Amino acid sequence: MDGNGRWAKKRGLPRVAGHREGAEAVRRTLKAAVVAGVECLTLYAFSSENWRRSEEEVTDLKGLMRFYLERELDELAREGVKLRFIGEPSAFGPELWERLQLAAAKTADNDKLTLNVALNYGSQQEIARAAQILAQEAVDGVIDSAAIDVAAVEKVLQTAELPPLDLLVRTSGEMRLSNFLLWQAAYAELVFLDLLWPDFDADAFNGALDQFAGRQRRFGGR
Ligand code: FPP
Repeated sequence: MDGNGRWAKKRGLPRVAGHREGAEAVRRTLKAAVVAGVECLTLYAFSSENWRRSEEEVTDLKGLMRFYLERELDELAREGVKLRFIGEPSAFGPELWERLQLAAAKTADNDKLTLNVALNYGSQQEIARAAQILAQEAVDGVIDSAAIDVAAVEKVLQTAELPPLDLLVRTSGEMRLSNFLLWQAAYAELVFLDLLWPDFDADAFNGALDQFAGRQRRFGGR
C-alpha cells in the first residue's frame, strides 16, 4: 500500500493524512475484493523496516490501526471476513496485540474472504524463522534434514494456511517487492500501478484483476 506519504505531500498535508486516506482505500479495496469473489487478500500495512520511521509516524499508524479495528470489526465480522495477521504484531505492544488477537478470534469461523494483514512483517525474516523451526525439528529428530523440501518449508511459513499467491499488486510506481511475500511470489503475477495507494479504488482493483486474467500462467511449463 505504497504512496501515502507522497499523496499527503502533494497536498501539503502531514503524512498521517495520507495514511488516513490509505485506510479508506483499504475499505474500498476490501469491498471490491468481496464483490469480485477473491478468496484471500493480503495487505502490507507495516514492514519490519518501517520502525525506521519517526516515532510520531509509528504512533500515528498504530493509532489508525486501533481506530479502524474498533470501527470496522463488527461490519467485517457480519460480512463474513476472516481477519488474520502475518509478521510479528506483538511488537506493537500488549494493548494493540490483544485487540488484534481478539479480532482474529471473533472472525475465525468466517469464510467469505480472508483478510490477511502483514504487520511488522518482513519476508526474509519469515523465511529465516522457517529455517530455524526446521533446523530445530531436525535437531530434535522430528524430521530428517535431507527430507526438507519446498512443501516442508511452506508448512512452516506464516502463510501455511492460505491459498497460493496469484496476484501481487504494488502501487505508487515503485518496481520492487520490498521484502513482501518473496517466497510466496515465486509464480505470482506482478502488477505495478502508477497510482498512489490513497487513490486506489474498485476500478484500479478490477483493472489489476483484468491484467491478471489476461496473463498466461505456465508455472515453468510451456
Ligand atoms: C506506505 O506508504 C504505507 C504505509 C507504511 C502504511 C500503510 C498503512 C495504512 C494504509 C493504515 C491503515 C491500515 C489498515 C490495515 C487499516 P508510504 O508512507 O511509504 O508512502 P511514501 O512512499 O509515499 O512515503
